[in-house]
Amino acid sequence: MVKVTIDGIEVEVEENTTILNAARRIGGDVVPPAMCYYSKLKGSGGKCRTCLVKVSQGSAKDPRPMPKLVASCSTMVQDGMVILNSTSPEVVDARKSVVEFLLINHPLDCPVCDQAGECDLQNLTYAHGLSKSRYEEERRTFEKIDIGEHIQLHMTRCILCYRCVYTADQITDKRVHGVLNRGDASEIGTYIKNVIENDFSGNVIDVCPVGALTDKTFRFKQRVWFSKPMDAHRNCSKCSGKVALWMKGNDILRVTGRKNSFGEVEEFICNECRFEKKKTEDWTIEGPRHISNHSVISQNHYENTFKAKLASRQPKEIYGNKDSAEK
Ligand code: SF4
Ligand code: FES
Repeated sequence: MVKVTIDGIEVEVEENTTILNAARRIGGDVVPPAMCYYSKLKGSGGKCRTCLVKVSQGSAKDPRPMPKLVASCSTMVQDGMVILNSTSPEVVDARKSVVEFLLINHPLDCPVCDQAGECDLQNLTYAHGLSKSRYEEERRTFEKIDIGEHIQLHMTRCILCYRCVYTADQITDKRVHGVLNRGDASEIGTYIKNVIENDFSGNVIDVCPVGALTDKTFRFKQRVWFSKPMDAHRNCSKCSGKVALWMKGNDILRVTGRKNSFGEVEEFICNECRFEKKKTEDWTIEGPRHISNHSVISQNHYENTFKAKLASRQPKEIYGNKDSAEK
């Protein structure tokens, strides 16, 4: 085990842990944002630079600082390392520049984008972005590519994080899409017109940090912050069957994997659960899903409303006795 200090907080982690994962052990504001790293996908990270941090002491043995900011998702900790994330003005400044760079070609179409309200880039921009763009050149545009019945590709929104490519590589039988071309001509595509279909292909939607890959069955149905996310499960022969249902009244508008506090799905789910099971009787509903206060989705206060509704009923009816109801 090695000891490292991040933003003044000491943590002990196994050797060969990345700085990002060490910070995740601490949690909260100490954790650098990550737009391309995804703990469940091998090889992910190192593409977007949003996770840059400053290493002000390399290790106990060699206390020299690292000369440049480093990508925390791909830099391993050393014993005695001292790292600065949000407490370093240099990091905060660099992150602003990275956001500005990511937004160079990203259209400002949040008002019509299904990902709005749960978009990592939108959140990152809110926390670290400039209020105006300085970019004056023409933005990239793309020919529309149809990638099948369930998934919509908006290439103009893609930030080339490669998560969808790794997902298709690692959890489906056959990948038919990837990053084509190089430099600013790079794009996600299927090369020879091809649809992405596979039992687990829908997971590319959940891993996409922006609205480049969205669920066609949910398109324009509802702003995500007006829906009620509920935890639910069913017996499924292909996946764990543990999902989040995004509901409006008793209608299921969308089914997704359950995401943890770092925005990563806990378990990948199959296309049958995601696209075909849209009736409440298909599911055992466990209750409202907890959404962080930082998310606009929590502004709907659906979780509190749900609890208030329960509390207004006779305590016995729900909790069995008054004591546990009060608790
Ligand atoms: S489509 Fe989404 S997941 Fe795929 S590379 Fe682009 S931003 Fe990343
Ligand atoms: S999350 Fe580290 S470079 Fe993208």
